[in-house]
Amino acid sequence: MKLADRVNHIEESGTVQFTLLLQQLRRDGRDVIDLAVGEPPYDTPAGIIEGTRQALEDGQTKYGAVGGLTELKSRLAEQFEGYDEDNILISNGSKQSLYTIFQTLCNPGDEVIILRPYWVSFPEQIKLAGGRPVIVRSRNHQPDLDEIQQTISAKTRAILINSPNNPTGAVYPSAVLEEIAALALKHNLFIVSDEAYSAYVYDGLQFKSIFAYEDIRQQLIVTRSFSKGHQMTGFRVGFAAAAPEVIAALNKLQSHLTGNVCTFAQYGALAALDLSADDLNPYRKDLESKRDYAYRAISAVFDCIKPRGAFYLFPDVADYLKGEMTSADFARRLLKEKGVAVVPGEEFGTAGHIRISYAVPENQLASGIERIIEGL
Ligand SMILES: Cc1ncc(COP(=O)(O)O)c(C=O)c1O
Repeated sequence: MKLADRVNHIEESGTVQFTLLLQQLRRDGRDVIDLAVGEPPYDTPAGIIEGTRQALEDGQTKYGAVGGLTELKSRLAEQFEGYDEDNILISNGSKQSLYTIFQTLCNPGDEVIILRPYWVSFPEQIKLAGGRPVIVRSRNHQPDLDEIQQTISAKTRAILINSPNNPTGAVYPSAVLEEIAALALKHNLFIVSDEAYSAYVYDGLQFKSIFAYEDIRQQLIVTRSFSKGHQMTGFRVGFAAAAPEVIAALNKLQSHLTGNVCTFAQYGALAALDLSADDLNPYRKDLESKRDYAYRAISAVFDCIKPRGAFYLFPDVADYLKGEMTSADFARRLLKEKGVAVVPGEEFGTAGHIRISYAVPENQLASGIERIIEGL
């Protein structure tokens, strides 16, 4: 049976293969520590569970408006000066917003600039939209403005940025965001700003979105999510914020794709917006102290740029590969021989590195890092 080129031309996420191996080892009775995870280790806050339970009891189990509950959209619009519900689309995680955004922006052959290292889904989602991901290397995990400038062509439609970043944990400074905004204005490009990790910035920094630059707003699409910051990964509630014409186009696509996001999950998200900074700060503080611990231990053995956000380290492991192994081989050996899972840098377009998640309970983090170091 012949399947469409579309699916044959994209890669399955390599993390899935690693997860299968990890599950197999656990089934065989091996004690495996998972430092490959992409979600925080905390329970969903009780207020969110209660809001969801109440919605279920109130019969909020039917189809809803495609683009989301009006009340939820209005509350989210408060995060963006001058926006209202017409500027917001609720999607199944921010992943679905991103997918729909590339479908909306790209004609066949249109280019989207993404920065290496990049989150696994970016290039594949762009390809699925018929676009061409144009990959630009970063400098010390920060955007290199000259490289971006040189890559812009007549076919470029958008620049995609992701700060705080997966996999590097880098947070882009205001000056860099401002320069990217200026570049997009000069060349009349969209900016897609993936802010899935906006809840997690450390060292006393405040999260800053490129939305702060007023002039860019007509060309800006921001995506955010309840997944990481509110411990709601399984709820699948994320959103896009943009000009009403863009939101209307995303809404049109979503109407044929999934329709509305699970109605009672959206009520859970509404309840999440009632949580106070005091409710949410402990997560950030705990992750910051885990970052400190993990960074200290890992930077003693690998070259590693200190991350200022998200919950990953992305050390350079090339010295240990001795030209004989890829980082994927290295990660496989760590998993098989030492029982610790990390994600190889190849997944993020960056060989010679591994991604270590420190969003795990303290004892697992300590033993996991110990196993990596022993494995060397
Ligand atoms: C950089 C980045 N963007 C977007 C997402 C999508 O998250 P969600 O669909 O749960 O909002 C993820 C999830 O891992 C991510 O790491």
